Amino acid sequence: MAAMKDIRNIVILTGAGVSAESGIDTFRSEGGLWEQHRVEDVATPEAFARDPDLVLRFYDMRREAIQTKQPNAAHFALAKLDTEWPCELLIVTQNVDDLHERAGARRVLHMHGEHLLAWCTACDVRSPWTATLIQRPPCPECGERALRPDVVWFGEMPYRMEEIYAALREADLFVSIGTSGAVYPAAGFVRNARELGAATLELNLEASQGTHWFDEARHGPATQIVPEWVEEMLGD
Ligand code: OAD
Repeated sequence: MAAMKDIRNIVILTGAGVSAESGIDTFRSEGGLWEQHRVEDVATPEAFARDPDLVLRFYDMRREAIQTKQPNAAHFALAKLDTEWPCELLIVTQNVDDLHERAGARRVLHMHGEHLLAWCTACDVRSPWTATLIQRPPCPECGERALRPDVVWFGEMPYRMEEIYAALREADLFVSIGTSGAVYPAAGFVRNARELGAATLELNLEASQGTHWFDEARHGPATQIVPEWVEEMLGD
């Protein structure tokens, strides 16, 4: 691992594990089932075409749930790092909750979209959204009843990949937090970062599928190991 004094630019990838201790279910725990459906069978454009009510109900439930949850010590520690880190820093999150932002982080990129936005497939405008979509409300912009969750489904391209790869090119350190390393392209970032010369660190409850790609891995609950790492980085 590169000496900490050499580290200027940081890219942090977060996944469901960072929000687990806030009470938001991860995807691959407990069999990953929702009402007997595999998440992979609900989170696809094909599922939405086949049974839109099922898919809208699933996302309505999750959108409602996240609004009752609070950021945890890992989100707050990352927000502190974001606020105090003097060089480039980007938190690339696979999470569609807003807990990084509610903890105070500003440099956050949602590569899989956001629960609290609705995307109009008629006019392409994204609108802030906290209510349900199951009753097919009109788009606030164009009035068409064509809103869908602004969440990236399996088979769709994640958002803002160019920005992510640009940040990885500049990164001296890549840190992956609370993600199983099962879903690409995010699971491949560690290899991109390595090839581009960055040091790599995994912080996860257990060894992820890609753990061997990291220079260093620390395993434990995010609320413990993330604040410890942030303290090291900030020299507190
Ligand atoms: P997963 O559910 O696949 O993985 C969560 C990871 O967090 C696992 O490796 C757990 O061991 C770890 N974990 C659980 N509790 C933790 C804790 N308290 N502290 C630290 N780590 C903990 O979630 P993701 O990797 O985020 O995509 O899943 C990636 C993508 O798959 C999601 O963004 C979603 C899903 O399908 C889309 O919706 C497009």
